[in-house]
Amino acid sequence: MTEQTIESVSHENRIFPPPPEFAARARIGSREEYERLYRESIENPEAFWLARAAELTWAKPPTRAIHWNPPEARFFEDGELNVSVNCLDRHVEAGLGDRVAILWEGEPGEVRRVTYRELLEEVSRLANLLRSLGAKPGDRVGIYMGMVPEVAVAMLACARLGLVHTVIFGGFAADAIRDRLNDAGARFVITQDGAHRRGKILPLKPQVDQALTAVPSVEKVIVLERTRQPIDWVEGRDLAWHEHVGAQSSDAAPAIVSAEHPLFILYTSGTTGKPKGVLHTSAGYLLGTSLTARYVFDLRDDDIYWCTADVGWITGHSYIVYGPLSNAATVLMYEGAPNQPDEGRFWDIVQRHRVTILYTAPTAIRQFIRWGDEHPKKRDLSSLRLLGSVGEPINPEAWVWYHEVIGGGRCPIVDTWWQTETGAIMMSPLPGAIATKPGSCCVPFFGVVPKIVDERGHEVPAGSGGFLVIEQPWPSMLRTVYGDEKRFRESYFGAYPGRYFTGDGARRDEDGYFWVMGRVDDVVNVSGHRLGTAEIESSLVAHPDVAEAAVVGRPDELKGQALVAFVTLKEHAEPSPELAAKLSEHVANDIGRFARPEEIRFAPVLPKTRSGKIMRRILKSLADNRVPEGDVTTLEDPSVLNALLGK
Ligand code: PRX
Repeated sequence: MTEQTIESVSHENRIFPPPPEFAARARIGSREEYERLYRESIENPEAFWLARAAELTWAKPPTRAIHWNPPEARFFEDGELNVSVNCLDRHVEAGLGDRVAILWEGEPGEVRRVTYRELLEEVSRLANLLRSLGAKPGDRVGIYMGMVPEVAVAMLACARLGLVHTVIFGGFAADAIRDRLNDAGARFVITQDGAHRRGKILPLKPQVDQALTAVPSVEKVIVLERTRQPIDWVEGRDLAWHEHVGAQSSDAAPAIVSAEHPLFILYTSGTTGKPKGVLHTSAGYLLGTSLTARYVFDLRDDDIYWCTADVGWITGHSYIVYGPLSNAATVLMYEGAPNQPDEGRFWDIVQRHRVTILYTAPTAIRQFIRWGDEHPKKRDLSSLRLLGSVGEPINPEAWVWYHEVIGGGRCPIVDTWWQTETGAIMMSPLPGAIATKPGSCCVPFFGVVPKIVDERGHEVPAGSGGFLVIEQPWPSMLRTVYGDEKRFRESYFGAYPGRYFTGDGARRDEDGYFWVMGRVDDVVNVSGHRLGTAEIESSLVAHPDVAEAAVVGRPDELKGQALVAFVTLKEHAEPSPELAAKLSEHVANDIGRFARPEEIRFAPVLPKTRSGKIMRRILKSLADNRVPEGDVTTLEDPSVLNALLGK
């Protein structure tokens, strides 16, 4: 499964207990209470989940919770509900219609406050438009938008009709959009003319236009006007949001669907060139995101909660839209870049809107450290009461900076470990109950049974590194890879039958705290973006000058990991800095700018085993400018190493 042995290298041992003032008001205020609930959740999961499910609004309440025939999981399967009703209607009916659901700030500076009532009305209008176009439950809808309130409207309108959305991150380029829409077989696309990003306009509709030249399943495109630059228009296919959505009734009957009805597909990178369409279903996903949002972020009515992720990733799905909105929270959404107009923008936003909870990524925190303390120090951040981190291991230095400079030493930090596939947070401290250790995601959430095992699946002793697996099913787990059940079974349940394999290496310390060290497969995490090296390799080898390519991650202080591509050229091509730049650009056009290799190294040959497998362990050392250690006797041609080392 992997060539590398996992070593646990972190020796961080500071402990930060929950501040007593925080614990006193917290939803879960002591370690004992956490342990009582956790025990209940794993000793009697059926009763635990059925009781929790009663918190949702059902058209038909379920009578049982779990069906588990690994890897087949179903939750609440005889129940029926609608996800958008749980995020909107029930709050309006409870008298919260005037509460702000989305507090939005555009990059140019405008502010919009969308109440729960307004959000429900706009969702209903869009749902009515989709219905009038013939959308039926189960149809797939591609969403390619920026960070505007309408992206949440689009997702919830799909949920209202039982349509399956697939949100494609706005940084993806036309070819990547095309592949995803084709894989999903989308009938509709919702997009916008452009998005504001770093003072410029990022054109979105033109990427869709280009992609759709090769997506026969798409019938209609709904286009929101945001940036107003001239765009092409395909008569009969394209519909202007303002014109067509505005004309609809603001009342739309929700489609009542079964608990296991698909809610969305989200494409994520795996170990082959083809992205995986992770499929999540309705009730289990909703309950998982709703409970974790409430307990991990300790949500209260007066919170202004800001998750800085893009809606195009799972964090945006679960913790901008479904988790917080199902709790009737006020969610801050920001459209643009953190350094527009200057490096203090995030802190201006916190000060202006009195943000109380901030959830961001380690890569952003490291960027803020680099920009200098003066930016946060000039602003009043006293409204903050809780900080969160997600997406990659957070190095203790960044943790402590976040705690001191942003949190003023008073805010607990929740380091949340989870994945696109897990749907919701799996491990995290509960901020009023669990003492934190910088760099550790601490303890499992209710119902989650993580284990650290060796290659044969045996549990390793405390303190030793190993592979992170999950033993029991949990409500928000992925149900399949869309259209590829075999890949689902092999990728997640192939290594350890009956147990979910995360692809991460981790260790558990003597106190039972978990430390996730990162991927052990060929997935890399660049600035919080998950990328499959195989995807980038297949883009590179599609270039006419490239014979072979191997892409690896190298540790990077700012981005977590940076991509280094080793490229062997075809006979006719000559290595040159110009060609390296061209190849980088080629990947940017193919996949998106965020996937560009940081460095392209031309190599006469790539190191391979006798069976022809590229030895990535060697390339990883070389990428990091280290002499490869360990066994190189499996190399088919040992002189390759000298050639790569320039000897
Ligand atoms: O390696 C882990 C890392 O991010 C991977 C999942 O990436 P993705 O599906 O894009 O979801 C990211 C947002 C949930 C994991 O396999 N990861 C995520 N959170 C953490 C983390 N690594 C360490 N600590 C975390 N808190």
